[in-house]
Amino acid sequence: MKKYKIALIKGDGIGAEIVEEAVKVLDSISVNSGFELDYKEYLMGGAAIDVEGVPLPDETIKGAMDADAVLFGAIGGEKWDSLPRELRPESGLLKFRKALNVYSNLRPVSVYDELINASTLKSEIIRGVDLMVVRELTGGIYFGEPRGREGDKAFNTMVYSIDEIKRIAKVAFEVASKRRKKVCSVDKANVLDVSQLWRDTVEEVAKDYPDVSLSHMYVDNAAMQLIRDPKQFDVMLTGNIFGDILSDEASMLSGSIGLLPSASIGGNTAIYEPIHGSAPDIAGQGVANPIATIASAGMMLRYSLNEIEAATKIEEAIKKALSDGYRTQDIASFDAKEVCSTSEMGSIIANFASKL
Ligand code: IPM
Ligand code: MG
Repeated sequence: MKKYKIALIKGDGIGAEIVEEAVKVLDSISVNSGFELDYKEYLMGGAAIDVEGVPLPDETIKGAMDADAVLFGAIGGEKWDSLPRELRPESGLLKFRKALNVYSNLRPVSVYDELINASTLKSEIIRGVDLMVVRELTGGIYFGEPRGREGDKAFNTMVYSIDEIKRIAKVAFEVASKRRKKVCSVDKANVLDVSQLWRDTVEEVAKDYPDVSLSHMYVDNAAMQLIRDPKQFDVMLTGNIFGDILSDEASMLSGSIGLLPSASIGGNTAIYEPIHGSAPDIAGQGVANPIATIASAGMMLRYSLNEIEAATKIEEAIKKALSDGYRTQDIASFDAKEVCSTSEMGSIIANFASKL
């Protein structure tokens, strides 16, 4: 039987609870689908700081490099907020992305019909939304130098090279060519030099994809358009920080940030993680929505392990759980049959998946 090595990083806050549910779902289908998953756990974020004194131990990078894929929960929490920036949980995640060179972050946003009433937006605006945020993940203002504090000033640098823009733009066009063939590139070219270079470079890359149409949008307008008429978008191509902000915004189209998965690809080993954070306020209470992480495990099967049938089973099982009326508290509305806990939702999805 095929065997894949999975590096598991639970992280902090709700991380452990949601990753455990994703593992439950994976285990419910793996053997029947003809493969085995060999998990090894690694530390990152606050959990690593508490044990090793650093947010990203070397073993974690080595373990990830040696694995077929990484499944990751979330990091961060108030407990570590007062540490110097380099020692904070978030720095561990950024270094990890950089070390694995996963420059491309795919964040699909779709609306489950069953949850049309869970969103704060009107149903006619969101029904049928299906877009993909392609976010550059290892550059931009998150990593630019110089950065720091001097006297009464603090500064960061937003920097992109032509090569960095080209490689992420190519990903966006490739993704779009398998979808509705539209790329909307998001920037702030009316103000920022780095955005003008971004725009010019994306125009160049577009010439290789004559079947895909390209539009440009300033980020402030994009934030507004996402709420006004989200169905106009197919692929949204963004730099690091704009994609971070717009993907949180876009998650509310689907009804909850607890629903959106992501894949960080392009490097040695891909990382699969929910787009949400560690939600310390609800950690340990069994109320977190595990669907974003379970769907991320589905993306892992599809993109890294090429186990397409098994990936489809996970996607179908999530839909079935929702259409049967199961809801975690974040997506419960008047049509919920039953409000379930994190682990109940995981078990329900695992059970459906195992029968497909
Ligand atoms: C995300 C998160 C991270 C980011 C944080 C935790 C560093 O918000 O994955 O969207 O900003 O990239
Ligand atoms: Mg974010």
